[in-house]
Amino acid sequence: MDSTPPVRSDVVLGASSTSTDGKALIRLDGIAKIFYTDEVETHALAGVHLEVAPGEYLAIAGPSGCGKTTLLSILGLLDTPTHGEYLLDGQPVAQLTASQRARVRNRQIGFIFQAFNLIGDLTVYENVELPLTYRGMDSAERRKRVLEALEKVGMSHRVKHYPSQLSGGQQQRVAVARAVAGDPLILLADEPTGNLDSTNGEAVMDLLHDLHRQGATIIMVTHDPRYARHADHSIHLFDGRVVEDETGPRERADESQLKESGF
Ligand SMILES: Nc1ncnc2c1ncn2[C@@H]1O[C@H](COP(=O)(O)OP(=O)(O)O)[C@@H](O)[C@H]1O
Ligand SMILES: [Mg+2]
Repeated sequence: MDSTPPVRSDVVLGASSTSTDGKALIRLDGIAKIFYTDEVETHALAGVHLEVAPGEYLAIAGPSGCGKTTLLSILGLLDTPTHGEYLLDGQPVAQLTASQRARVRNRQIGFIFQAFNLIGDLTVYENVELPLTYRGMDSAERRKRVLEALEKVGMSHRVKHYPSQLSGGQQQRVAVARAVAGDPLILLADEPTGNLDSTNGEAVMDLLHDLHRQGATIIMVTHDPRYARHADHSIHLFDGRVVEDETGPRERADESQLKESGF
């Protein structure tokens, strides 16, 4: 990836990059996504407008099939919109070449999936290290980052374990470590508690909340409205449209109690 000719030196976005307005980290303008299959056109997204500020925690809720994963895939540069404009840190994403997109994805975006998506024949340590290896980071720096990330999620004591030797909750904590080890600009989570029982679900939510308080920008998809309260901005999708948009801090009153349940 890194061997392709640099088209723009500022293509890797980050704190030092020059945002156009200094406000929105993400700006979607009229984003539509149509999937064309044999005879059917599926309008998965139908004109989504959205702004996310740096450091914001956005929850995306809505029923199955309403376009949540499609929206997250577009935000994470895993898919492209059919119509509309996506500005990431002030830069139109559509202008990036394939290799630039891959680079932004690897360096600026951390993904957390419902099914954890850890690699079964790699250890906990190796799973967290892998995306850093793709970047060509030297091994001392990788080691420092991996151990710090595992410490953050309370999994330092399991570095040599394989995913199959961990509980679901532990696997998701490792997946969170993998997502944050690269110090991404944005953390995207697609129903991260979907495969967890409520105790582990709460624990993963508390972890995301902690990361948010440390400054992370988080966009989380959830079908469970209980979890949307952790966010300071939430939108509700229905049939590919934003039907509700609520902004405002919604700190939990019972935060200290929930903290105790910890990991
Ligand atoms: N690759 C695809 N090809 C065709 N249709 C798709 C594809 N991905 C998603 N869809 C359709 O787009 C709609 C939105 O899907 P999705 O974003 O996965 O919803 P959600 O995550 O909210 O459950 C659904 O009707 C789904 O069937
Ligand atoms: Mg989905």
